[in-house]
Amino acid sequence: MKILIKNAKVLTMSGEPIERKEIGIENDRFTFVGNAPEGYEADIVIDGEGHIAMPGIVNAHTHSSMSLLRNYADDLPFWEWLTEKVWPVEEKMGPEEVYWGTMLSNAEMIRSGITAYADMYFYSAETAKASLEAGLRCSIAQGLIGSSDKDKEKLEATRQLYREWHMTGDGLITVMAGPHAPYTCDDAFLTKVIELCAELNLPIHTHLSESEKEVKDSLEKHGRSPIQHMNHLGLFKQHTLAAHCVHLRDEDFEILRENQVHVVHNPSSNLKLGNGISPVSRLLLSGVNVSIGTDGSCSNNNLNMFEEIHLAALLAKGSTRDPAVLPAYQALEMATKNGAAALNLGSETGKIQTGMKADVILVDLEQPHLYPHYQLDASLVYSAQASDVRTVIVNGKIVMEKGELKTIDLEKTYYEIKRITNKLSN
Ligand code: NI
Repeated sequence: MKILIKNAKVLTMSGEPIERKEIGIENDRFTFVGNAPEGYEADIVIDGEGHIAMPGIVNAHTHSSMSLLRNYADDLPFWEWLTEKVWPVEEKMGPEEVYWGTMLSNAEMIRSGITAYADMYFYSAETAKASLEAGLRCSIAQGLIGSSDKDKEKLEATRQLYREWHMTGDGLITVMAGPHAPYTCDDAFLTKVIELCAELNLPIHTHLSESEKEVKDSLEKHGRSPIQHMNHLGLFKQHTLAAHCVHLRDEDFEILRENQVHVVHNPSSNLKLGNGISPVSRLLLSGVNVSIGTDGSCSNNNLNMFEEIHLAALLAKGSTRDPAVLPAYQALEMATKNGAAALNLGSETGKIQTGMKADVILVDLEQPHLYPHYQLDASLVYSAQASDVRTVIVNGKIVMEKGELKTIDLEKTYYEIKRITNKLSN
């Protein structure tokens, strides 16, 4: 299958200026970015007039099935929210709930231009199934909470997930290990997780230094910050995607840089749960790869990456009182190629470049809130809305065309979500 996108202004994220280029896609990869070879014939021609074509957005941290808990537990302190509201209802969820929760999130993510995401939850095989059907790139991680009696079983489940799902669907699905957080996994369990990851060369997806309490408790218990402690245990020897990193001590920055830890900034979730603002501009200046995530719909409460990109740029300026930090292009890097690197897919996606996987979206510039068109990177960060995304291609397949979802039956999804949430709330 050959697709030609013509007449669009193209933001490649490879450092070139945004200008009109033609993009060729054959099967799952970009075959040219510039001018189509003479006499080039495509099976599908997409007219991108009035649109900007950019790499698909990477949501580097979410729990997609938590869409089932959207607007279920709000305006609560973090610990009460997690332990008294979220965990008890999650106990009632099974594979079917996770599948449909993921499907709902997949619809929402495609509509807002997300082509790849990193997920941590349970029944992760269901997340993989739903993502394959939706045609989204997904890195699954089965959330691991360490309790010595079931350690072996849990690690075996991650091993099985890796065997059954890693690199399936033409590489759409990849697998990570998901130790939930230092405060939910004891040292003995984390050591076993690290051993398994070393054996399988498995990247790690975790939450780190999210709340003030987490840091305080870690200092009291170990005499080390959560980041120092994870480093002490050897976690960072593996590729690590660390969500949050809100409360950092001076020494943490160097540890994160030295170990090439991939930090995921989740501005809405950190604000909504009252956890604070991650020092993103200092992390970036320290040489840390920082990407952006939505976190789950129960602490956001949507999966709109345009909102997160916008917030990331604004919060960095507001918290440092410096309007020059985190300029628009850098915010877009965080949401594309930095996110791809966090998912361990930096050589495959995150840019529009010949030979890379064809993950590309078209954003409609013919909107009142996007006129005039001076600086299109600024338009995307400061003015664009998720609903401006019109066409989404993942792995060379069109999953949304002119606003119409091609892979997801939204009516059926709504029906199942209503049925499931009726059951969950009883
Ligand atoms: Ni999270």
